[in-house]
Amino acid sequence: MPSELPATIHPVTPDAIDRAAALLRQGRLVAFPTETVYGLGGDACDDRAVAAIFAAKGRPSFNPLIVHVARLADAKALARFSDKAGRLAAAFWPGPLTLVLPRAPRCPVSLLASAGLDTLALRMPRHPVAQALLAASSRALAAPSANRSGEVSPTTAAHVAQSLGAGAAMILDGGACPVGIESTVLDLSTEPPALLRPGAVTAAQIEAVIGAIRHDPVADTGSGPRRSPGMLTRHYAPRTPLRLDATSVEADEALLAFGPRVPNGAGKVLNLSLRGDLTEAAANLFAMLRALDAGGFARLAAMPIPERELGVAINDRLRRAAAAPDSLVEEAADGAIASHAADR
Ligand code: TXA
Ligand code: MG
Repeated sequence: MPSELPATIHPVTPDAIDRAAALLRQGRLVAFPTETVYGLGGDACDDRAVAAIFAAKGRPSFNPLIVHVARLADAKALARFSDKAGRLAAAFWPGPLTLVLPRAPRCPVSLLASAGLDTLALRMPRHPVAQALLAASSRALAAPSANRSGEVSPTTAAHVAQSLGAGAAMILDGGACPVGIESTVLDLSTEPPALLRPGAVTAAQIEAVIGAIRHDPVADTGSGPRRSPGMLTRHYAPRTPLRLDATSVEADEALLAFGPRVPNGAGKVLNLSLRGDLTEAAANLFAMLRALDAGGFARLAAMPIPERELGVAINDRLRRAAAAPDSLVEEAADGAIASHAADR
């Protein structure tokens, strides 16, 4: 019911898209749905808009943002496309694959969006609302997931409102995100290309197009800017401690189940996919983590998820969510990262 929506949440209408586009052109921030998760978008070429994104998220400034474009030509104006990049864009765009590429010589994107790196992360989303907004604003949009840093990514407009409050001038409500897990991030500025974040497009799908890639970006040791800032250890953190690979549960635990064979005894159970479907599980992951986290249990327990297809990305997010809170380390004084840090 519209009367119950917070003032900033707007159903998607042509008029709402036009107003959101006007806000973006004025340097304001708009949260919008993509096929993966909701993004907090701002004009990627406007330093103040990009700074406002970091402020709204409470995000460490070393973690760069993905820039979203409407068309391949827009992407090619911003970054240097290799042959492999062109083939991947042809195969997977629009869709949930982000390509990290060298910035073009006179790339107008805010340097803050790249967080000091000489590369740019680019993606062309396939969600119709994201596409309509990109076209109406005629801007490239820097858009991280629309949550405060360290919280799980939002897959509904209500999650965005809970997490960011007034951080966005407007939230476009396009319903639940169909994929539910963030885009795959592939670094094409190195050879062989390196998978920085597993996601909806699998490594096998990528390798079918461009051949072998690295699956294991090396953990950074702490000096100099990170090559793979997406791999910070603790991400997607619920407030309640999370244990993984649970095959039995206690009454003071909330269980994130998977598949038909669920152990008895948990205080609460939500099943990612009763029929053991990894795509359905990915779409449910963040909403269910949020719901269990809100239940006031001593611990969250997650059942084992098979390490194949979208299970690779689901396990990556669960491992980050389970990393100990004391692995949180602030940005070091020199701008490099001392150890681990939280984001997303
Ligand atoms: O599905 C998605 O990608 C969503 C939706 C909104 O499009 N966006 C998203 O953005 O997840 P964000 O900012 O939460 O995650 C961006 C990831 C981070 O892990 C960041 O470190 C990495 O991409 N990244 C961005 N630019 C990079 C660069 N130049 N080099 C390496 N990694 C980069
Ligand atoms: Mg994020």
